[in-house]
Amino acid sequence: MRTYLGSAIIYKSHPPRSSFSIKWRMISTITRLNGNRLETVPFTVLSEQFDKFSKTHVDIGTGDAKFIYRLAKDNPSYFYIGIDSNPDGMGHISWKIKRKPSKGGLTVPNLELLHMSVEDLPSEFSQVAHCVTINYPWGSLLKGVTDPDPKILESISKILHVGGELFLNLNYTLYSDKRLISTLEITDLEGKEAVEKLKNIFSFYQLRFREKGLDNRNFAGTTWGKHLTLGSGRETLSLKFSRESNFSEKI
Ligand SMILES: C[S@@+](CC[C@H](N)C(=O)[O-])C[C@H]1O[C@@H](n2cnc3c(N)ncnc32)[C@H](O)[C@@H]1O
Repeated sequence: MRTYLGSAIIYKSHPPRSSFSIKWRMISTITRLNGNRLETVPFTVLSEQFDKFSKTHVDIGTGDAKFIYRLAKDNPSYFYIGIDSNPDGMGHISWKIKRKPSKGGLTVPNLELLHMSVEDLPSEFSQVAHCVTINYPWGSLLKGVTDPDPKILESISKILHVGGELFLNLNYTLYSDKRLISTLEITDLEGKEAVEKLKNIFSFYQLRFREKGLDNRNFAGTTWGKHLTLGSGRETLSLKFSRESNFSEKI
């Protein structure tokens, strides 16, 4: 099992979600990858999976999906969802998991790859995940979690079960390049106060800070983590939060 902050992800147990609230609402659709095709299906296609597996892990901004694919292969009793606003990177893994083993594929029934932006997830995603990971975010996702954007934080918090955990791995070396920070128009996270402020803002979205780590290993084991950390001494800032039912700390 892959590790974060020096410890394995422990998928905590939570009571099953009630299907009552979903019954009377209009069911939203999701766009998923099926082999190398994109298809739009009702959310129920996904929710049927939640009942088949004991825990659900969502990786937001999954990129080439290799990280979530490895987890799915290693833990067949858990359900894994990779989400990315750009479907191109996920194509190879999607092709691989739908192709018959006799044709070079590897059936992984506990993995779905979705072409969606985290801020646009339908309301049915409420409390589906025991664990959410965001590894080396970039673009609107990086800005959304570090500036932060209420729509993106609300969406991330909403996905988690109460007691579920969020692991956020950031490219920390980025913050030593002040020109780039200014070009990207993102908040500079260097310095104790900046991270403290971020922790407090997350708390308004029921995300309680748990642990922080600064390391130059690629602990997420993701492709971007590897690019950023291998042999270059670059640092990853890892923040772990847990989803509270009703929690807020004053800034
Ligand atoms: C630097 S890549 C990291 C990919 C992967 N997590 C890894 O570590 O190898 C950042 C990814 O975030 C995705 N992304 C950016 N904004 C997003 C958003 N609003 N919702 C979902 N994905 C987003 C990008 O398309 C990109 O694939």
